[in-house]
Amino acid sequence: MWKIALTLAAVVTSAPLDNADYSSINTFALRLLDHTYAFQEAFGVKNIAISPLSIWSVFSLLAEGSSGDTFMELLNALQLPNDLAATQTLHLAARGIFKSTSRDLILKGQSVMLSDCSLEIHPEFCELANLYSTDIYTVDPRNTTKLAADINYWICLATEGRILNSVKPQDLENLRMVLVDALYFKANWKYPFDPTQTKEEAFYNSQGQVVGSVNMMYHKAPHNLADSPRIGAQVLEMTYGKDEEFSMLILVPFDGMPIKKLLNNLATQPMDWLEDFRLDDPPKVDCYVPRFKISSQSDMVTPLKYTGIHSIFDGQKAELPGVSTSPLFVSSAIQNVDLEVTEEGTVAAVATVVGLEDRILGPRIEVNKEFVFLIVDRRTNLIVFSGVYGDPTTV
Ligand SMILES: *[C@@H]1O[C@H](CO)[C@@H](O)[C@H](O)[C@H]1NC(C)=O
Repeated sequence: MWKIALTLAAVVTSAPLDNADYSSINTFALRLLDHTYAFQEAFGVKNIAISPLSIWSVFSLLAEGSSGDTFMELLNALQLPNDLAATQTLHLAARGIFKSTSRDLILKGQSVMLSDCSLEIHPEFCELANLYSTDIYTVDPRNTTKLAADINYWICLATEGRILNSVKPQDLENLRMVLVDALYFKANWKYPFDPTQTKEEAFYNSQGQVVGSVNMMYHKAPHNLADSPRIGAQVLEMTYGKDEEFSMLILVPFDGMPIKKLLNNLATQPMDWLEDFRLDDPPKVDCYVPRFKISSQSDMVTPLKYTGIHSIFDGQKAELPGVSTSPLFVSSAIQNVDLEVTEEGTVAAVATVVGLEDRILGPRIEVNKEFVFLIVDRRTNLIVFSGVYGDPTTV
């Protein structure tokens, strides 16, 4: 198994369309990448790939149906503008990027809202969803086998077959509404690599130890390349397509700099490193980049909580009165990504599936993990018996 220790800043537009300012979305994106890596690394996962934009799209739509703390947390974490009209403008501008017209590049984004036919969705929320190019369908969510098959089929079509089986029937139990967002990106490098030059080479971790080998691609081509002392990395930009509308930025940490520190710098430092090093006429660079593929499934709830979004995931506290007449909360947020970098270019697909359940009204406890018990005399609180239960397999 190859270990990819390069930080993928995913796919970034080289020039903003419509002069929209996406720096707020990028701030959210880099924080989410930092938190997602921290969360996954705790489980020993070293390769991750996410699409913060897909998460942003779904949750900014939900923000418009939220109120109270739920709204304030989404506003702050997603870095949404203070007024609704500005949020809508930003959302529409971001959607506009998906209508890329270049011949040598495909970027398409689609989203769909599936809701229980017995759930009364506010017409205003439906209009909003339509405004954000989200198709709306009613389904019978009790038949989770059929619902999972329908969602997986939709995702398969939206991602040109790159993402299959992203949800299982048991992921969909108790849901009243599902929001699905998918992106598909396919582009060739402006300067492709010659496959005959690709050779097996060693690959290292940040302590300089060999962790495996990769198929290292090579070419000498004009690329922007610079050291950024502020973030602590060498930054390489490889562009896609004749018009160079998109690029991949590869950030290689300076010697001794752990990936975690680099991600933290990205999440907290000003983003001028993204612009500063671009030249009109970049010099030819000896460029060695591994061919690689990442297929990942990430549970985004914990990373999103790290960014400050809590109450929307809380069955007792979520406030989404603008979505439907029944109180709902977000019970799951799963993202599947499939990304492949080759000599020719890049294919990347993402599917985000966000599930909403009926809110739990009133206090509730589910004793489903190890616990301590005490038997006491209530008048004196004298403890008569005590114990721990943590192993249900023994009787
Ligand atoms: C669920 O839907 C599938 C496909 O439409 C159908 O064959 C099956 O009988 C349904 N299951 C239930 C429990 O209704």
